[in-house]
Amino acid sequence: MQTATISFDRFNTLADRAAGERIRAARARLGDKVVLLCHHYQRADVYAHADITGDSLKLSRLASQSDAENIVFCGVHFMAEVADILSRPEQVSILPDLAAGCSMADMASLAKVERAWRELSAVLDPDQKVTPVTYINSAADLKAFCGEHGGIVCTSSNATKILQWSFAQREKVLFFPDQHLGRWSGYKMGIPLDDMVIWNPDLELGGLTREQIAKAKIILWHGYCSVHQMFQPKDILKFRNQHPDGFVISHPECSFEVCKQSDYIGSTETILQTVKAAPPNTRWLVGTELNLVERLAEEVKHEGKIVQFMAGTICMCSTMQRIDPQHLAWTLENLAEGRVVNQIKVPAHEAKLAKIALERMLAVS
Ligand code: 13P
Ligand code: SF4
Repeated sequence: MQTATISFDRFNTLADRAAGERIRAARARLGDKVVLLCHHYQRADVYAHADITGDSLKLSRLASQSDAENIVFCGVHFMAEVADILSRPEQVSILPDLAAGCSMADMASLAKVERAWRELSAVLDPDQKVTPVTYINSAADLKAFCGEHGGIVCTSSNATKILQWSFAQREKVLFFPDQHLGRWSGYKMGIPLDDMVIWNPDLELGGLTREQIAKAKIILWHGYCSVHQMFQPKDILKFRNQHPDGFVISHPECSFEVCKQSDYIGSTETILQTVKAAPPNTRWLVGTELNLVERLAEEVKHEGKIVQFMAGTICMCSTMQRIDPQHLAWTLENLAEGRVVNQIKVPAHEAKLAKIALERMLAVS
């Protein structure tokens, strides 16, 4: 007879160190039945348990290649959905805390994107003229929408390539939910800023005129990451004044002005690789989430490299932070007892269409 799930109440008050020991013990019991995928923004005492770390593209690829029965995703909801969609049907994708969402992903919903598609059809035939591109930071039903309408998924590390693919299919792109990634990637392709317009989903026709839509190359959804929008050009200016020999590297979710004034732009994995590969005794200003930056600073300080965080205030991804040692211990102990808690299962019809858009991306990247 199956015993009941172990309640989270018993873990809630556990000290971090004790939770860490329980994670290790449960993992030893589980062996290769579980793989722990961990995004670079995870807190140190969760990151320490990772089998594989990476940015969204790397983790999507590896989720699709893993043989483990259980994929425990220390990241946010859309990442665990992607792992479920790309893994085999008998594999289980788990998110240790279901409240770990992504506020940017929530800025675009299927209902609003479908409405935008309907409204666009008053000006042009979107299924002939517009490729829908969703950033991987989006719900599975939006990836399914893209799969169904000849569109594709992109990540922060392949967005320009994905736009090139998209323009080879149709003459315009509807890019959601992150306007900044869309704008920066379009700009890198040589698309003038004037040919990229913002679609405000709360206004009729996105707040645009028919002429603006007809002229636009990229229609950018009015979405953004609240963590990355904290970084400001003035932070870069101050750093450059104090350290004229220093380098600036930022994530493409930062504003256009921040990206423009940075020396390098890249995904979380690219940021880590670039700074680690840099010559000793160099100084870096980094525009991305604080957990990543603090860990990187520690890892490279023995080479005399100095890594500084771009903002004066604390910018953590509060939803990534929800994955704590207590939730991870709770998830793994249940698994070790043969019980799955917090499984992320995308409905089959949605998963099938979303997989089309994800596989298009993996083929292009
Ligand atoms: P990366 O794919 O670069 O890791 O970005 C994910 C993310 O959510 C950044 O905010
Ligand atoms: Fe979402 Fe921003 Fe957090 Fe990335 S940092 S998961 S985009 S809220």
